[in-house]
Amino acid sequence: MADPVPFPSALLRRSFRKAFPPAVRGEGVYLWDDRGKRYLDFSGSAAVNFIGHGVQEIPDAMAAQARNLEFVHSSQFTTPVAEEYAQELLDFAGVNFRGGCVYFTSGGSEAIETALKLARQYQVEIGQSKRYQVLSRSQSYHGATLGALAVSGNRRRREIYLPMVREFAQIGLPYCYRCAYDCEECARKYAEELETAIELTNGEAAAFISEPVSGATLGAAVPPDGYLRQVAEICRRHDVLFIVDEVMTGMGRTGRNFAVERWGVAPDVLVTAKGLSSGYAPLGAVLVSKKVSDAISCGSGSFLHGFTYNSHPISLAAGRAVLRYSQKLKLVQSADSARGDTPAAELRKSLETLREFEAVGDVRGIGLLWGVEFVADKPSKKPFAPGLNFAARVAEATMRRGLLVYPMQGSVDGVSGDHLLIAPPAVIIDEQIHWAVDQLRDSIEETAGLDLVRRN
Ligand SMILES: Cc1ncc(COP(=O)(O)O)c(C=O)c1O
Repeated sequence: MADPVPFPSALLRRSFRKAFPPAVRGEGVYLWDDRGKRYLDFSGSAAVNFIGHGVQEIPDAMAAQARNLEFVHSSQFTTPVAEEYAQELLDFAGVNFRGGCVYFTSGGSEAIETALKLARQYQVEIGQSKRYQVLSRSQSYHGATLGALAVSGNRRRREIYLPMVREFAQIGLPYCYRCAYDCEECARKYAEELETAIELTNGEAAAFISEPVSGATLGAAVPPDGYLRQVAEICRRHDVLFIVDEVMTGMGRTGRNFAVERWGVAPDVLVTAKGLSSGYAPLGAVLVSKKVSDAISCGSGSFLHGFTYNSHPISLAAGRAVLRYSQKLKLVQSADSARGDTPAAELRKSLETLREFEAVGDVRGIGLLWGVEFVADKPSKKPFAPGLNFAARVAEATMRRGLLVYPMQGSVDGVSGDHLLIAPPAVIIDEQIHWAVDQLRDSIEETAGLDLVRRN
């Protein structure tokens, strides 16, 4: 019989064995628990918060919407907020989505499900009903629902559910620190893996889905130049839709409105969430290019899909106010790590100093999305034993110091490999970055020291 649950609760929480402090307030980059302890939100929760906590314009816009109209069903009505915000998002996404349309959901996973079904319906509409397979990448995460898990590679998050999902082929992905091709023409070689996988489907591939910059699974692994363009070109040549998952990277997080812009890539479908509402309301969106929306509007004329809460007016009011606030404060520019004098550039510089630690193998990322990978042996890049839970222990140590980071395991092979994801709100200032990196440094030192004691 297992030990009694140490922290009983009526809420089914993520862990029965971990204490979760009740959070009661947020402002700027800070959160407070019910005992008054302050935490610097260095990971934007889970790369969610982009504009900072406690921005009053957002609840004001939500309350105004709720007072006028809280909800209508999308089978009966549209709403002004939905129509206007959809157009604003298309404009934000640039020329590639001109003439396209937007489908709103309550989060990233629902948006991914929507994109997968859209890809299938698109192929059926254009007379390619044989095409249904969605190819994806091995070290990836696209969501918690079964469809999204089917195309995710994150082993820890999908393994026990595998008997319940339909699996399609997955290809490798560029991960410079542990490149399978030793970074020799790896952009081309990884892209060629896609071409081979598509050919092996014998004309059944409907779409390929990919995060432009790997999110939580690999910890902000940035692809080599040329990779995404080649992938997009292969998809185009094989009539396979290219779906980019910008749930984590979208809405400015990488210093561009959407990360794909950095590499001049034009996806057929773009999925976003997290920073879209910055956490003020549950919200996701699927941006659909004209080619795809035309196929349906000129074909059967209806999208065979729907959630009760798609295009929820209060969530849309939140998202729209977040976009306006972000534009007013020029937060996408603040998130550009390649410009001098931005919080993102300061974050890059400060995080780079962590390389001095024996336990830090790699520091990588872009904009305000960074990964710090830990290793037990730096020259050989040997990871810590998974049972040590190194990243989680560093995160516990930072939390004790009032700093929130996002720990993950599995970067090497889905099971071993520890890293932290760092993704602060774009309103962070240099002084806060320096304080946060100091706490992180002390926490790594403490955790690595404990590990040495255990080993000796
Ligand atoms: C890249 C990516 N796609 C999809 C999702 C799923 O989004 P949600 O958790 O909002 O359902 C996530 C969540 O972390 C993500 O990082």
